[in-house]
Amino acid sequence: MKKGIYPGSFDPVTLGHLDIIKRASKLADELVVGVLINSSKKALFSFDERVELLKRVTKDMPNVTIKSFDGLLVDFAKEENADFLVRGLRAVTDFEYEIQLAHTNHKMNPDVDTVFLTTSVEFSFVSSSLVREIASYGGDISSFVPECIEQDIIDKYK
Ligand code: PNS
Repeated sequence: MKKGIYPGSFDPVTLGHLDIIKRASKLADELVVGVLINSSKKALFSFDERVELLKRVTKDMPNVTIKSFDGLLVDFAKEENADFLVRGLRAVTDFEYEIQLAHTNHKMNPDVDTVFLTTSVEFSFVSSSLVREIASYGGDISSFVPECIEQDIIDKYK
């Protein structure tokens, strides 16, 4: 039984995240999407809201569960008895940060490995910050986020 953790801020979840969740859920028997609670980043959605949005977009994925975590990712991975971490790579610009994160996590807990999935090309430029910026100017975000959460994002800027 292989368990994976896909961690992130998910503020908000995008079609790029959903693409990684769908594909990672095929690699693991169980996939936990871990929402970081205390990020230094100023969040648009509270962590409860982010968890709720993720639950909504993954409701038809039986082996995917949504959990929040505070503190170090390696500690969360240990608590969950996870076999691996999953991170998406959109472009070479992600690589520097991601390799640093993976090496640091592996140094802190050699039992935890990181599996990288390349984001599908059509979502390779999508990010939560880009979605927030477009929505803040009243732009069309329908190509970037799951339909069932689009209105929640629009409402944040009303
Ligand atoms: O979606 P993000 O913001 O790129 O996700 C980053 C995340 C949550 C994976 C990363 O910030 C993280 O793991 N934070 C928890 C604290 C930690 O373990 N940091 C890495 C070792 S210094």
